Amino acid sequence: MIRNLPTDLSRRNTFGMKVRCARLLEFTEAADLDVLDWGVLPAPVKVIGGGSNLLFTGDFPGTLLHAAVRGVRFTDAPDGTLLLEAGAGEPFDGLCDQVARRGLWGLENLSLIPGETGGAVVQNIGAYGVEVKDVLVRVEAYDRQAAGHVTLAAADCGYGYRDSRFKREPGRFVVTGAAFRLRRDPSPQLGYRGIREALQRNGWAGDPATLTPQAVREAVIGIRREKLPDPAETGSAGSFFKNPVLPREDFDALQERERAAFGEIPHFDLGGHVKVPAAWLIDRCGLKGRRRGGAQVFPTQPLVLVNATGDAAPEDVLALEDEIIETVRQRFGICLHPEVEHIGNE
Ligand code: EPU
Repeated sequence: MIRNLPTDLSRRNTFGMKVRCARLLEFTEAADLDVLDWGVLPAPVKVIGGGSNLLFTGDFPGTLLHAAVRGVRFTDAPDGTLLLEAGAGEPFDGLCDQVARRGLWGLENLSLIPGETGGAVVQNIGAYGVEVKDVLVRVEAYDRQAAGHVTLAAADCGYGYRDSRFKREPGRFVVTGAAFRLRRDPSPQLGYRGIREALQRNGWAGDPATLTPQAVREAVIGIRREKLPDPAETGSAGSFFKNPVLPREDFDALQERERAAFGEIPHFDLGGHVKVPAAWLIDRCGLKGRRRGGAQVFPTQPLVLVNATGDAAPEDVLALEDEIIETVRQRFGICLHPEVEHIGNE
């Protein structure tokens, strides 16, 4: 079924920007896309999920298409694993919850990330050492170029850090569903120190064999609640910037320049490259808590920009974004890039 919805987007973006679009359509079945008269829709046509990684920079002149395809199905695979198939409109944390309750491994580190399954596979969401691509088997999508439905294996989705083929070929695919591989045998991903510490605070003695997916999920939820704004209270779109990835020699030079001021710079080794936490860079520029109009750098996680007053305008967020990029560039010579997708009238 295809429905026309009111075009006020205030409650369709977690940042809480008070903007509108020309048309908002929702579809509930993948087959709806075969009968949709694309030619009459105000252009451009853009697919949205839960609106949790978007910054509307103004009113959107085109059509927003929401994939409200629901449905969750678990099936046994011959190799003892399980396959979870979900509609693009399923809230992703609902999947994490169901999977953990069944004692299955795979999604527990991705707990409490806002948004829907379609958005999760488009952006390759990640947290605490796991990315969606690590558990994804395939994506079901409508290919507007071929005017037909396609199934893409995870390996064909061009995944990278917060990146995918869906982002690099904008407007082509409308994701309608996804399938994930889950395991029954214990396979906790404990590489991220914060998770081990949170588990220990919850009484874990250190033996991975004693863990359950539910225990890891609870630890992750604990860390996120401690650091990140409560979406029910404060508007945001999660991490606003990507963590910059530097060639190893640039990182070494940065470390030498900054050793006297800051000692060891936190970093994650990626082989020839090094990922530096943008939160650390923003923090060291003294920008924690910085306000521009209603927008603010969140005090306990400076990678997150929030709508502190509830009535921040897109211009406030954009002014704060520019200030952060410019300050970090001047202080460290590193260019931050937004992780949050900007959409608007430009
Ligand atoms: N840090 C500071 N000051 C702070 C906070 C953090 O210096 O006030 C430094 C610390 O060195 C800390 C490091 O930043 O060790 C990294 O912080 P954290 O582990 O909280 O994660 P992040 O790199 O800032 C990324 C994701 C998050 C995800 C966390 C956990 C991106 C853009 N963000 O943030 O994803 O939850 O790791 O894995 O990669 C999101 O995308 O919306 C999101 C919240």
